[in-house]
Amino acid sequence: MGEINVLINKSKLEKRIQEIAKQIEKDYEGKEIVLVGILKGSVIFMSELAKNMKKSVELDFIDASSYKGTESTGTVKINKDIRNSIEGKEVIIVEDIIDTGRTLTYVLEYLKQKNPNSIKIVTMLSKPSRRVMELNVDYIGFSIDDKFVVGYGLDYNEKYRNLPYIGYIE
Ligand code: IMP
Ligand code: MG
Repeated sequence: MGEINVLINKSKLEKRIQEIAKQIEKDYEGKEIVLVGILKGSVIFMSELAKNMKKSVELDFIDASSYKGTESTGTVKINKDIRNSIEGKEVIIVEDIIDTGRTLTYVLEYLKQKNPNSIKIVTMLSKPSRRVMELNVDYIGFSIDDKFVVGYGLDYNEKYRNLPYIGYIE
């Protein structure tokens, strides 16, 4: 494991997250939102996003995983479900990074079965060149090249989640 290089620094990240928060507030004017974060990677992005919204938003979490180490295993598991009903609500799924798109495709279909009024996706990062599943993503922080990244919630074997920037490992 080599050293960690900065890919997106803290201020660039925070500025972009502020922009997305404003855009979402504009798009959902007069509506109540439930943010559903996918554990654990989305936690830091989600809190930054929520802190930048003026209106009250509901927060919930789902734990879904398809990863072991640096490779997707292909199958997605729900380890912990959301706590509250989302029936009739405006739901935004919050993800750290979309790689193959398998996790989100699965979580999206899973949450749709709970009959929300609407459901959208916001992701901090996207690696479009790695996409296997066709997926419509509503809000994207940054699109990046095919690099394994850590920090701002993202881990490598549970390490580096608390870095205040996005780094990549050489
Ligand atoms: P997907 O199902 O292939 O789209 O993978 C999405 C999940 O894989 C994300 O929620 C992350 O937890 C993890 N992941 C994908 N790429 C990276 C990366 O570069 N660094 C850390 N985790 C990653
Ligand atoms: Mg994840």
